[in-house]
Amino acid sequence: MRQLWSALVTVTAASLTAAVMLVPARPAAADPPATTLAEAAHRTGRHFGVGVSGHKLADPVYAGIVDREFDGLTPENELKLDATEPLQGRFTFAAGDRVVDHAESRGQRVRGQTLLWHAAQPSWLVNLRGAALRQAMLDHVTQVVAHYRGRVAAWDVVGEAFADGTSGARRDSNFQRTGDDWIEAAFRAARAADPDAKLCYNDYNVENWSHAKTQAVHRMVRDFRSRGVPIDCVGLQSHFTAYHPVPADFAATLRAFADLGVDVELTELDIEGSGAAQADAYRRAVRACLEVSGCTGITVWGVRDSDSWRSSGTPLLFDSTGARKPAYTAVLDTLNRFPATRHVPVR
Ligand code: XIL
Repeated sequence: MRQLWSALVTVTAASLTAAVMLVPARPAAADPPATTLAEAAHRTGRHFGVGVSGHKLADPVYAGIVDREFDGLTPENELKLDATEPLQGRFTFAAGDRVVDHAESRGQRVRGQTLLWHAAQPSWLVNLRGAALRQAMLDHVTQVVAHYRGRVAAWDVVGEAFADGTSGARRDSNFQRTGDDWIEAAFRAARAADPDAKLCYNDYNVENWSHAKTQAVHRMVRDFRSRGVPIDCVGLQSHFTAYHPVPADFAATLRAFADLGVDVELTELDIEGSGAAQADAYRRAVRACLEVSGCTGITVWGVRDSDSWRSSGTPLLFDSTGARKPAYTAVLDTLNRFPATRHVPVR
């Protein structure tokens, strides 16, 4: 009997293996591989965006890549505090509007960043304290989100509010000194100004699950979710280098956040390096997102290496001439493989 049973198991296992192997990797004729990042990501139910500088959209090579490859734009600097409110109560949206108009005219989604950030602050704001500062922060959030109501799909409401290192503490900043509740107050103001915008907390060095900063952000998001503070997503900036590589537990980190009921996004992905090593690192980063159903989008932080905020590290998908790098091919291929992987019968 036991022999019969084990024979049956063997036969069943063999036929299952055969069945899985018979599933075509991709029904080639009906569904050829996508040829752009946006199309390939779209088929996985995700966005693929890019950080842009508005003034570069006049460069046809730059704009050509942006419009061919990406379905989302994040203005790299045009929506930051110093750009949108250079003088208190005097808002300037021309630079931001330029990027948002461009995106709208091409059906691209806009991520706005960053409403409250310790950096890129105008001097009037740096000089405020206490209740006056708190009010100014909230007024800023309200005015900027209201201006873009219905046009900016997702906002990084607060960015980089936690300290590096092992403390897990908040970063010291003028905002933080107005009281621990500044972050939740900002999220509530943003929700009131545009109830349909997706509201995110965004940070760097939160990709390794074991890092104190990752755990601290996770605790905050759990607390916000339990108390009904309106947070919808966590952005992991994902700036990688040889010394801060794509961690082996990246997918686990993404899943841990997604398990709190928020979406996660790779918001500023760039990986220093070149050639096959860089391509492989990109492959692993994209795969981590694809492994987590709550990972709804990837944004790379710039178009060509020469556009990057850290161009010496050549961290992007296109070289300075606008040619596709091995990293590009790796990302496209990884995205293209995903639907086939998904459609293999799950046991
Ligand atoms: C960077 C921009 O890319 C640069 O052009 C600018 O000089 C400095 O800021 N984390 C963030 C982004 O959230 O806003 C930063 O963008 C990169 C680090």
